[in-house]
Amino acid sequence: MATEVEQPRLRLGSIAPNFKAETTKGPIDFHEFIGDSWVILFSHPEDYTPVCTTELGEMARLAPEFAKRGVKLIGLSANTLDSHEGWIKDIKDVTGSLVDFPIIADKERKVAYLYDMIDYQDTTNVDEKGIAFTIRSVFFIDPKKVIRTILSYPASTGRNSAEILRIIDSLQTGDKHKVTTPINWVPGDKVIVHPSIKTDDAKKIFPNVEIVKPYLRFTTLPEVD
Ligand code: BEZ
Repeated sequence: MATEVEQPRLRLGSIAPNFKAETTKGPIDFHEFIGDSWVILFSHPEDYTPVCTTELGEMARLAPEFAKRGVKLIGLSANTLDSHEGWIKDIKDVTGSLVDFPIIADKERKVAYLYDMIDYQDTTNVDEKGIAFTIRSVFFIDPKKVIRTILSYPASTGRNSAEILRIIDSLQTGDKHKVTTPINWVPGDKVIVHPSIKTDDAKKIFPNVEIVKPYLRFTTLPEVD
């Protein structure tokens, strides 16, 4: 496990580092937890904080949407299991949603350091002992354990759950059809033929190819996706 000074540089395409941790659903080995699913690992600065409470309630509400896409959710907050258990009750009170996915108890910031989830330097963003809070990171990990997207938000800004779902939809659509997705794409919108596919081949693969420029070719995908 990494220390504060040994935080690995994780990039898109890196293998998600493995770790063992205590969670609200029991101890896990992260790679075993991933198995052959997509995983979204997201961190919180601290339990019983206002923005995090709204975020976890919303992720719990959307859990069936993630499950439909074969995505396992796992949260992390830099507190103990006991603290997490009490907070989950509060989240249910406040948002009406039960957090039924694991939350990692990362009081010592071990996973936070391993995943570089700490501010560079924000002296206002520390706990009572002066240790930097974890930031709001979101790691999108595919079934091969490859990190496909990383989002980082400051403590002051709650995440956008629709964007998290949209990114999963884009990644899964891209993998399945060899397409890329344009600005503000949502499922059902036109997609872009991957640059590696020649236009002649694209015309054979996709039902209708709209050539705007040789490098910008739109197509539509069947609704069932
Ligand atoms: C929050 O979740 O509301 C929060 C957590 C840490 C610092 C600031 C806000």
